[in-house]
Amino acid sequence: MIPLARPVIGEAEERAVLDVLRSRQLSLGPRVPEFERRFAARLGAPHASAVSSGTAGLHLALRAAGVADGDEVVTSPFSFVASANVMVYERARPVFADIDPVTLNLDPEAAAAAITDRTTALLPVHIFGYPADLPAFEAWDLPIVEDAAEALGARHADGPWVGGRGHPAVFGFYANKQLTTGEGGMVTMGDEAVKERIDSERNQGRAPDMGWLDHDRLGFNYRLSDVACAIGLAQLDRLDDMLAARRRVASWYGELLAGIEGLELPCTDAGGDVRGWFVYVVQLPRGVDRDEAVVALRERGVQSKPYLPAIHLMSYYRETFGHREGEFPVCEDVAARSIALPFFPELTQSQAEEVANALIAVAQSVRGSGRTAQATG
Ligand SMILES: Cc1ncc(COP(=O)(O)O)c(C=O)c1O
Repeated sequence: MIPLARPVIGEAEERAVLDVLRSRQLSLGPRVPEFERRFAARLGAPHASAVSSGTAGLHLALRAAGVADGDEVVTSPFSFVASANVMVYERARPVFADIDPVTLNLDPEAAAAAITDRTTALLPVHIFGYPADLPAFEAWDLPIVEDAAEALGARHADGPWVGGRGHPAVFGFYANKQLTTGEGGMVTMGDEAVKERIDSERNQGRAPDMGWLDHDRLGFNYRLSDVACAIGLAQLDRLDDMLAARRRVASWYGELLAGIEGLELPCTDAGGDVRGWFVYVVQLPRGVDRDEAVVALRERGVQSKPYLPAIHLMSYYRETFGHREGEFPVCEDVAARSIALPFFPELTQSQAEEVANALIAVAQSVRGSGRTAQATG
């Protein structure tokens, strides 16, 4: 079976973990600031704070942006559920706006129409590693928190790396990401006061100069261990190679899957924006039953999964906020037809060919058979 994802882990990561274990300093040690410094420097960000997950980072970044009870935050419904959940943690309301059909990122026009006098922040997501239109959002003079969980290695047309514009930007290091620490995350930011607040809140609300168990604010345990940071440092050393390998795999898929009627591939880089390749997600031709396609691919030795479901149509969001089908037609259409294919740096060219051949055969055999996909427009 060709898996969906597989981290690149070698002797460097093994040595790094052993070194930490032998040092007996497993947490709150020197690897944390070292990982933060090197990560920030790579993205041209003045500061970075390591956290226990992308979700934790988004939560702390939103708090640092001042989002609180009763506020509204405009965001994309086509994302991993965490980017909206973190607003609910603070009793703020996620206000979704539809996405651009090409980039699949929050559409600035739709987002502008969703702003009210209760909007206190914007949370654009760089979905599948493609840069969101930050220059458009920055014109509105609202605090911005970027969900860059999937976008390490992406670059904006006007120069900065994703994560290097100064807004708090949050990366995720789960095992399928461009860089992994198993679980983990990083917030990059331009403002030192934001770093100080996040550093304190990730560590139970302790001020840096305060003694053990002295807290001057509410906090959490969102720390990243030295073991995880050591893995992250080893991964940083091989990041350029891993990103290049992902780009190579994407270009194989692009060639192998071109010209299949109705199949939509990830958009190519346009206008100077550069994708940081994270997943390879295609939208199946209309009329192809996605569930059947996933099963048929599995029978041919290829793992795949529907990715991503629309957040507003998840049970919790329907029940809590009263969302229904039809609110965000572009997102719903894309979400109903998307599947992620196996995608990782060590995927070989012959495996890419196997995946492509399986997909071509499956698209032909399940086209129009059985049930139609949910909400296919
Ligand atoms: C777009 C997006 N946002 C947020 C997250 C949450 O990151 P984590 O799983 O590290 O909490 C993810 C991770 O999968 C993601 O893809």
